[in-house]
Amino acid sequence: MLPDLYRSTLRYASLLASILLSIASNAQQGLIANVAARKTVSLNGDWQYIVDPYETGFYNYRWQERSENDREAYWNTDVPENKTERKEHGYTDEYILQVPQDWNSQDPKFLYYEGTVWYKKSFNATLPSNNESVYIHFGAVNYEAHVYLNGQKLGMHTGGFTPFNFEIPRGLLREENNFLVVKVDNRRHKDAVPTLNTDWWNYGGITRDVNLITVPATYIQDYFVSLDRASIHEKQKTINGWVVLHGAIRSDVTIEIPELKVKTKAVYKTDTAYFSIKIKNLQLWTLQYPKLYQVIVSSANDRVIDKVGFRTIAVKGKQILLNNVPVFLRGICIHEEIPQEMRRANGRKDALQLLGQAKELNANMVRLAHYPHNEAMMKVADSLGILVWSEIPVYWTIDFANAEVLNKAKQQLQEMIQRDRNRASIVIWSVGNETPVNESRTNFMRELVFRARALDNTRLVSAALEVHNVNSTQTIDDPLGQYTDIVSVNEYLGWYGGLPNNCRNAKWAVKYDKPLFFSETGAEALGGFHADSLTRWSEEYQEWYYREQIEMMKRMPDNYVGISPWILNDFRSPKRNNPLYQEGWNNKGLFDQKGNKKKAFYVLKRYYDEVEKGRKSQ
Ligand code: GCU
Repeated sequence: MLPDLYRSTLRYASLLASILLSIASNAQQGLIANVAARKTVSLNGDWQYIVDPYETGFYNYRWQERSENDREAYWNTDVPENKTERKEHGYTDEYILQVPQDWNSQDPKFLYYEGTVWYKKSFNATLPSNNESVYIHFGAVNYEAHVYLNGQKLGMHTGGFTPFNFEIPRGLLREENNFLVVKVDNRRHKDAVPTLNTDWWNYGGITRDVNLITVPATYIQDYFVSLDRASIHEKQKTINGWVVLHGAIRSDVTIEIPELKVKTKAVYKTDTAYFSIKIKNLQLWTLQYPKLYQVIVSSANDRVIDKVGFRTIAVKGKQILLNNVPVFLRGICIHEEIPQEMRRANGRKDALQLLGQAKELNANMVRLAHYPHNEAMMKVADSLGILVWSEIPVYWTIDFANAEVLNKAKQQLQEMIQRDRNRASIVIWSVGNETPVNESRTNFMRELVFRARALDNTRLVSAALEVHNVNSTQTIDDPLGQYTDIVSVNEYLGWYGGLPNNCRNAKWAVKYDKPLFFSETGAEALGGFHADSLTRWSEEYQEWYYREQIEMMKRMPDNYVGISPWILNDFRSPKRNNPLYQEGWNNKGLFDQKGNKKKAFYVLKRYYDEVEKGRKSQ
């Protein structure tokens, strides 16, 4: 009797701890959940800009930060007060950038630009009533943003791939001609996340949507709705969750799922209202039938509607269980980029293109590398029934000994989880990629694993671990593997080490008795370049590579649960400078820069078709 009681008490305690921690951080963060369901005014479109590589708009000639009312600061009006005032900055329609979109793809002068660009938008606004507040919300700005409205600083944010919002102080918003300025700086720094060195293009700018959000004085700031793991074994399922209000009034909160004829009142404990609903005829979110339910969260003055899939993901011994059924991950890695237009991907149309390509491959999972992608990817994956690995850019050799860097990584982890915790498609939170094994790194990454679990203990936590060669055995004993739920590694046997036939006698030793996932493997091929299979950069070499890799996968230990090869599309990288076969591209895509399938595409697809057929026959 005791063990069950003990176990469930432990679970409840860890659940409560995780919720309390995430609530505390939510309240502190103030990120508004589910922007699409709010009363918004879009600020997307034409923004005027000033390129400012010398930071003249921010520092005076003695390199001192300009005071808020400094008339030469680029956040202050560019209109001279009279005919004698000297103004050395100004915004005009001669210099326009589209928002949302990276600047690199909008003008050849920005292709490699790393530095500051000042964005400016003038707009008229409907003023909020006395019992409303207005926020400005950014889907993402790479990398550092300072936001000013009508000459007053609203705040700053670092991190190029996660959302943030600032409340607009009452009285600051005008009905006419509001002067909104955003300083965007995409320079790389040793103590940033990611750090100086990455194998992707440093697309700068306001890369995702900008919205004004009007909310009641007390509004629904955040919420979580999920299927209780333990109830997957029961006939009656349990949907648990919580709601956080922002504001003075603690009003009643109800959760409604009309299709299930369910409506329940949440119960407050401290500042959070919790609920737990027993459901008889719940249709699970599955890969074949990705069922989404309308969920309505209501308080006295606010109402937020979402579409949520209910499923569970867990590890049991050497298997990953989706809804308590073993699942094999037929994955593919994806960068957030449209190669044909050499730009950051963003929005539903791009998501349908990228995930449509993954579906052509017969993939059932995508690893969104190496940073949180835009929200549309998760919403489309929810509706298509594709599993998602979502990752923060703790990539390669981060400044692990620096406590400030850990805080930056935790902030991005929290913003990623806060934004997407209600997306059924996300099953894995990843805290990093290929970080070098040493004590400060493992302590740093362990902290992130624990923080991810504290913020959301309904999903798996992973990271791409290190593998090394011990007496010609590929050995996985990365100390971080003791903390993650699955053991994931990137390996390039036959591209970065030897030739593809090295796979034939490769032996693998895994220290951990956990599911084993290959989070990357791949080889480059210049699309359309054909030669014999020993000729590097040819499609035939890449095809051979995949054949050998797949034969090796078939010989993996029984904890092998899937693979997400590197990568769906060729992508831009300033690190790839072979003048014949790269020219600033990493060509490991299974689709080339124009979107054509390479020969290796068909090798992987055939493998996935076999795996799917084989598992169906089980
Ligand atoms: C690494 C890394 C990728 C990189 C790839 C490559 O595993 O995770 O970001 O692009 O290898 O070398 O192509």
